[in-house]
Amino acid sequence: MYKSSTSRRDFLKKSAVASAVPVASFAVPYFAWTEKAYPNFAKNDRIAVGVIGCGAMGKGDAGRAKFHGADIVAVCDVDSTHTDIANKKVADGKADKYSDYRKLLERDDIGVVIVATPDHWHTRPLIDAIKAGKEVYCEKPLTLTVGEGELVQKVFADHPDRIVQVGTQQRSDVVFFLKALALVQEGRLGKIKRVQCAVGATPATMDYKKTQPPAHLNWDNWLGQTPKVDYIPERCHNNFRWWYEYSGGKMTDWGAHHVDIARWVIGDEAGDGPVRITGTATHSVPFKDGYPTIDNQYNTAQEFNITCKFSSGVELVMRHDTDNGILIEGTKGRIFVNRGKLTGKPVEEIENNPLPSDALKKVYKGVEPYTDNKWGWSNHWHQYLDCVRERREPISDVASHLQAIDLCHMANLCIRLGEPIRADDPTKVKGRPLTWDPAKRLFVADEQASSFLKRKQRAGYEIVG
Ligand SMILES: NC(=O)c1ccc[n+]([C@@H]2O[C@H](COP(=O)([O-])OP(=O)(O)OC[C@H]3O[C@@H](n4cnc5c(N)ncnc54)[C@H](O)[C@@H]3O)[C@@H](O)[C@H]2O)c1
Repeated sequence: MYKSSTSRRDFLKKSAVASAVPVASFAVPYFAWTEKAYPNFAKNDRIAVGVIGCGAMGKGDAGRAKFHGADIVAVCDVDSTHTDIANKKVADGKADKYSDYRKLLERDDIGVVIVATPDHWHTRPLIDAIKAGKEVYCEKPLTLTVGEGELVQKVFADHPDRIVQVGTQQRSDVVFFLKALALVQEGRLGKIKRVQCAVGATPATMDYKKTQPPAHLNWDNWLGQTPKVDYIPERCHNNFRWWYEYSGGKMTDWGAHHVDIARWVIGDEAGDGPVRITGTATHSVPFKDGYPTIDNQYNTAQEFNITCKFSSGVELVMRHDTDNGILIEGTKGRIFVNRGKLTGKPVEEIENNPLPSDALKKVYKGVEPYTDNKWGWSNHWHQYLDCVRERREPISDVASHLQAIDLCHMANLCIRLGEPIRADDPTKVKGRPLTWDPAKRLFVADEQASSFLKRKQRAGYEIVG
């Protein structure tokens, strides 16, 4: 498993000290329209941002970046209607529009890049942006495969001065998640035994129609590294999540959030040894040799119950159930946390036994957490742009995210390679038990499963580390 790098943090500290005017290179011409909207920011504090992927999340991230002192100067999408809408919505029509993200990365004035493309299009622009000297806010999940994570890690290590934040905003939620972490780290639950993540399921599916892509969408570019297939609208915008070709279903969509918190909670208590992954699942379509046998229906798991057992005996469970949230169980008590509540006896006990005043700061890498609002998103963006200005490692760093998302990818491999439980229903499977060797970064005695750790990319869309 990946370890957060203290040498990286040391490097950033040194480079911050060395740099008298850390954001000078990001200073952009100051537009009158932003001056009016954001009077509290000094001109040279503003950061020029380019957005790659202008769907729902790209627009949302851009809006939050603006709110915290950035100017959206460039928008890029393979669907021209999305660049047009984003330009109007987040840049008052003043941004430059691109259909190839590499052109956007050539611009010297852009300091920060938002990557909010579908999951199969995260790693390549992220790596290219790092190499181009940009800071990156990359949406979760950072990767499509374990192999992509290794490439990102390598490139990131080669460029220790880059500031990358993953869009897992629960890490900046001061009301629920950070308090839960503080309770754990203050020992109020005792030794952590098990963390269960309920993340929801893939929606029901049907036979979707193959058709011609609309003229405003470059379907070949949208497919990118993945196999060339006929256009089905339900493969594309927003619904890409429910296809293994482009994503990993709820396991990675919400797993990127909840498993990330679970892995943070477990921390070093996981141990350094092998991780055993077992479970069951129901897919909407039958699988053969790890691949769906039907090509016009959602294919990610509709139901699943996976256990990852760490070498120390601590368990991390990922379930499809609808009680969306995280149950953290320790030897002294348990708590439940999600985006709307934090409950359990250790929480009630805070009234008579308050947390130390610096408990949240300790959790948040030694910096007082941001409290712009009770939702993580705004705080997360505030924190990120301050990290860019002050050359600090953000709270959702690459190494910790890869530790979590790798587990989600492995859980999906366990069920994709599963065996039917009953002969008359090939969709309900007992997952293939997998043992991950973190030192060799392979599954023990399972060449087939190990071969799924990387994917072959389509010619012209290779990802180079
Ligand atoms: N942090 C969160 O809570 C959160 C919430 C929702 C989505 N997300 C993540 O954000 C990402 C985007 O999700 P969404 O809901 O906005 O999807 P979406 O389909 O609405 O938007 C994705 C956009 O990327 C564009 N795109 C595809 N390939 C591209 C390329 N090569 N270059 C430029 N643009 C390209 C698409 O045309 C589309 O406009 C996903 O990875 C998702 O997991 C995160």
